[in-house]
Amino acid sequence: MSLGVPFAVILSSPQIWKGAGIGTSKKPQKLKAPRGTQDYLPEKAAAIHWLDRRAGEVFGRYQFRRIITPAFEDTTLFTRSIGEGSDIVRREMYTFTDRSDRSLTLRPEMTASVVRAFIEHNLGGQSLPVKLYYFGNMFRYERPQAGRYREFWQLGVESLGSPEPAADAEVITLAVRYIQGVGVSNARLLLGSMGDEQCRPPFIEMLRRELSSRAETLCDDCRQRLEFNPLRVFDCKNPGCRAALADAPKMIDHLCSDCSDHFDQVKRLLDDVGVAYEVDPMLVRGFDYYTRTTFELTSDELGAQNAVGGGGRYDRLVADYGGKPTPAVGFALGVERLLLAVEAAGGGENIERPRTGVYIAVVDDDDRPLAFKLATELREAGLSVELDHMARSLRAQMKSADRLGAGTVVVMGPDELAKGEVTVRDLSDGAESTVALPELAARLDATRNAY
Ligand code: HAM
Repeated sequence: MSLGVPFAVILSSPQIWKGAGIGTSKKPQKLKAPRGTQDYLPEKAAAIHWLDRRAGEVFGRYQFRRIITPAFEDTTLFTRSIGEGSDIVRREMYTFTDRSDRSLTLRPEMTASVVRAFIEHNLGGQSLPVKLYYFGNMFRYERPQAGRYREFWQLGVESLGSPEPAADAEVITLAVRYIQGVGVSNARLLLGSMGDEQCRPPFIEMLRRELSSRAETLCDDCRQRLEFNPLRVFDCKNPGCRAALADAPKMIDHLCSDCSDHFDQVKRLLDDVGVAYEVDPMLVRGFDYYTRTTFELTSDELGAQNAVGGGGRYDRLVADYGGKPTPAVGFALGVERLLLAVEAAGGGENIERPRTGVYIAVVDDDDRPLAFKLATELREAGLSVELDHMARSLRAQMKSADRLGAGTVVVMGPDELAKGEVTVRDLSDGAESTVALPELAARLDATRNAY
């Protein structure tokens, strides 16, 4: 098998080398991550990994199983599900044509991908509901600002198969308990209902009529929104549009009796488990696929981009894609915003980060191979171990151990080694003891010195 043309082209293209200033006398351009993206350096990556691990535990308790799907999909998957009139489809998608002229899009969200996988692999043939969770990077061409990026990470769940209010209450409770568990106890849960195919179309007509009569107070964008989906006006932050909406009809007051009952039951179930919420008549979400329950989790600590997460029910999406009609409900949390909220709530301390348990220091350079062997043995015994690879003096090695926050230093001195022993120093209190090499792993406190 050949390596494929793209590699050959890239490696031999003089333009590409020149652009980077390589092989020319020009000063190389300063390389930067693309606008709206960021590198997660080890500290932050560890915090994100911790959120993911905690999600694995908590979501697992609610019986959600992980799913991993491609980072890009056929463009039509998103245009059909998210809605042609939504901001995401109109101006935020990263869409490109591949070398075979296929239109592909970097996923702006996961619900569409999960539904595609559900249908493609006939997951509905198993016992329902099918409960899936994910952790992945999403891409939206938005104007970057604090808490809003062009590449960001989401943690979310989709529960497919049940129309029951209990399924809504379950995912909402999970979202709330998870974010509380990672230390965000002050988030607000906003709850709404988008109605269904019975009550929504007449409501949209009523709203269109009402807002058309005040069209002069709406911004240009919202005047367009009036045509393709007047509900989108609720998304607008423009003061004129907010004023026009103040006494406009709200979906929540025009639900049919089935939707109203469903909403009441969701609220009752949340009351039963002590999940506090506020009904928000202005809550509309940025996707056309929602039916009935919608919700958002917000944190006042986050400034303008205050939504930590959001979700809702989407009873028609599976059928709209050609699958067997399957009601569903889910949510996604924005990982960067969640982390900001954890830190704002003072929960940064709880984040478990990898640490150095044991530092092995050598007195004599000749003993470095032995130090490497010992480090490997201790690592294989489950301890987190560092040793010097920079030919540092003993003094500098001790400083390194301190800087890394090691709990214990094992000093390999020639005299002790000659007797098959090493010195173990506890850095918390400076206590020292001599330990025979075969006993070392057992003597080091595994709970204190592991990851
Ligand atoms: P969403 O509200 O678009 O919903 O996104 C969920 C969360 O992702 C937001 O509340 C926010 O925390 C985060 N987020 C969104 N855009 C950005 C951005 N540009 N930068 C940083 N964070 C961002 C969905 O994506 C739906 N798929 C949720 C869902 C699942 N509904 C049903 N199932």
